[in-house]
Amino acid sequence: MTIKAITTADQTVHIDFTAHPAVSLQVFSAQIIRVCAPEALSLTSHAVIATPSQAPFTVDRDNAGGVGLQTSALHLHIDASGHVDVYDANDLALVLDYRGQRVPLNLDLPEDSHSVIEEEGHAGRDSAVNTVSSQVIKALSPDEHFYGLGDKTGFIDKRGYEYDNWNTDDASPHLEHYTKLYKSVPILYGLREGRPYGLFFDNAARSHLDLGKENPGYYYYSVAEGPLDYYVIGGPTLASVVQQYTQLTGPTPLPQRWTLGYQQSRFGWQDAAEVSEIAATMRRYHLPCDVLHLDIDYMAGYRVFTWNSTRYPQPAAFVKALHQQGFKLVTIIDPGVKSEPGYSVYDDGIGHDYFVKTPAGQVYTNRVWPGQAVYPDFGAPRVRQWWGDYHARLTAIGVDGVWNDMNEPAGFDGPLPDDLVFTDETKPSTHAKMHNLFGHNMSRAIYAGLQQQTGRRPFVITRAAYAGTQRYATVWTGDNQSLWVHLQMMVPQLCNLALSGFSFAGTDIGGFGADTTPELLIRWIEGAIFSPLLRNHSAMGNRRQEPWVFGEPTLSIYRKYLELRYRLIPYLYDLFAAGEQTGAPVMRPLVYAFDQDPAVVEIGDQYMVGDALMVAPVLEKGKTSRLVYLPAGEWIDFWTGEHLAGGQEIRVEVPLDALPLFGRVGTMVPMGPKQEYLTDAPDQEMDFRCFGDHGTYRHYQDDGSSFAYRDGAYNLYQITVSAGVAAVTVTHAGDAVALYREIRVHVGHSQQKFVLDKQQYCALNKKEVIE
Ligand code: GLC
Repeated sequence: MTIKAITTADQTVHIDFTAHPAVSLQVFSAQIIRVCAPEALSLTSHAVIATPSQAPFTVDRDNAGGVGLQTSALHLHIDASGHVDVYDANDLALVLDYRGQRVPLNLDLPEDSHSVIEEEGHAGRDSAVNTVSSQVIKALSPDEHFYGLGDKTGFIDKRGYEYDNWNTDDASPHLEHYTKLYKSVPILYGLREGRPYGLFFDNAARSHLDLGKENPGYYYYSVAEGPLDYYVIGGPTLASVVQQYTQLTGPTPLPQRWTLGYQQSRFGWQDAAEVSEIAATMRRYHLPCDVLHLDIDYMAGYRVFTWNSTRYPQPAAFVKALHQQGFKLVTIIDPGVKSEPGYSVYDDGIGHDYFVKTPAGQVYTNRVWPGQAVYPDFGAPRVRQWWGDYHARLTAIGVDGVWNDMNEPAGFDGPLPDDLVFTDETKPSTHAKMHNLFGHNMSRAIYAGLQQQTGRRPFVITRAAYAGTQRYATVWTGDNQSLWVHLQMMVPQLCNLALSGFSFAGTDIGGFGADTTPELLIRWIEGAIFSPLLRNHSAMGNRRQEPWVFGEPTLSIYRKYLELRYRLIPYLYDLFAAGEQTGAPVMRPLVYAFDQDPAVVEIGDQYMVGDALMVAPVLEKGKTSRLVYLPAGEWIDFWTGEHLAGGQEIRVEVPLDALPLFGRVGTMVPMGPKQEYLTDAPDQEMDFRCFGDHGTYRHYQDDGSSFAYRDGAYNLYQITVSAGVAAVTVTHAGDAVALYREIRVHVGHSQQKFVLDKQQYCALNKKEVIE
């Protein structure tokens, strides 16, 4: 076995072997090398928006007949048998091809025993990938941990489990043995002996990842169809790998500011009167809230783009009244269009041939909420345009955002057949190839429609997604339940989504299915209070869980945390603004920030918000105290101001109203005014809290809704605290909003005030001691 030829053109190197299929290598940046079959180079990716940069690299043959490709960060080697090994700049192993064959897991199950276990309702093995067009097997180190993969269930570290990438709506409780959920985001992060790397498998067809379940000596990826196509991403830190991946597939764009406010929803709110009462009750109880959601109940017979005229006789007036009370309205839109001649959306789509068909040319139907329904072929640009345009029916009456659901796509009569005819941009395709892209393309359609119709940053929420969907939509984790294990799963799920590019994500607070309890609801709002999407949602048929239904003390505790959230919205907004530039997510697992600390690799019950705050929520019933791991450095108890040394585990008391929260010494957070909802009026003043006596912070401010910031219409402030003394400078003054009249910087118990004078901040007094 030898290498026959090596040819290099621009950033791409082709390698032909005598006894192995050809391999192409493409240098995207010093940290990103694409490894693929040559035919993959001509395919259009739905995820990747970056193009190969001009990063320098060298290619050399070695004495053993292999080839090395070196960038400043990665050393890749292919031997004459086609094995690909990737090392870091110090030649330490990151990703090595496994030299043996797979040995499938022996389940000791004779063929005729399958029916026996199925008899009692236990499913046999259900692998999403029954055929394999390509596969890679990588060597697994005893000290290797895995993260990412979008919304998969289970723990923060994915090692030892297997997963399928096949967007799936499954109503049973999502537990750690689930292999698939609504999203397919095949970005896998590894931490091998402390060295971080990423592997992004860019193929939207059904794929499978076994991360050391089958065998502790290897992990593997297989895909049902299409050529092999993956990107190896190097460090040096896990944070830089994540940021590289996010540059590859696009960052989460800065959302409108109000989308960071509290959101209340429920499947089953009956009518306009009931929703208006919900709004009034929010205000009556002084519960900060910005957004109400209308689930499918608002439609006429679940027909999308219609209103039930009995329940909502005057939708425009209804939306207007909500706006007057400071609420925004988000409405749900499902992809399933009722199959019903005479219904305009259906007629229009049939007339223009916009719906998915069977290979025999019949429009395909399956059953969803409206009964028999047809599915728009969102892979076709003309269908996306049409669907996006339809949203003018909502935006014209003031609807502020759209919530996409059932877009795996789901069908109550079972999965859509693989061979349905779909479109991939200009080419015919199949359901098997386009399935995982359905939610992606639907979100893309709505993003474009809302942007064009409103000129504002679109607020689109989606349940199904593929890698890159973060460019168009916010996500939530679908139908969780009011179970403590689902509260526990929230942290790993949101952190792994964040690492997978989805910085703007949330769970149904309180749980969607099953009946919540006061204690669970309290612990959920506490634990989720920094989740970027902050929405309480539940299903009809289950106990109600609006914040007041359990009376006191639930109501007051719930309010206390909403108030905290609102004060810290400027911080979350800063993180989103920075994230659009750098790809750094808002919510971060501890391993993101402390990847060299072996103590954090499995920590899934604490998380960071940016680099300043660490949250250690209570996720178990009946807890009165919990252990908190403080990574290296120094920490400040957010509530008491107590100074705590890092590198230790501490026990903290956690009465029902307590959320352990810590500030990292050397960082700062902005804290806005207490308010019940966000208005378009810019803040006049801002407080900054410094943890410890030093730190530097960059604060961002804009109009909160338009795209003008992309043309420079924003303000940037630099706050510096050194030996307890603060300074404030304006580093960019766009003409979007007026600079703050006053800024206060809090260091320990003292406060330093600054007032604006001719575009500069002057210290008003030296220090005021505040108790
Ligand atoms: C799905 C969604 C859920 C929604 C329901 C009705 O189950 O995941 O959030 O309430 O459909 O639209």
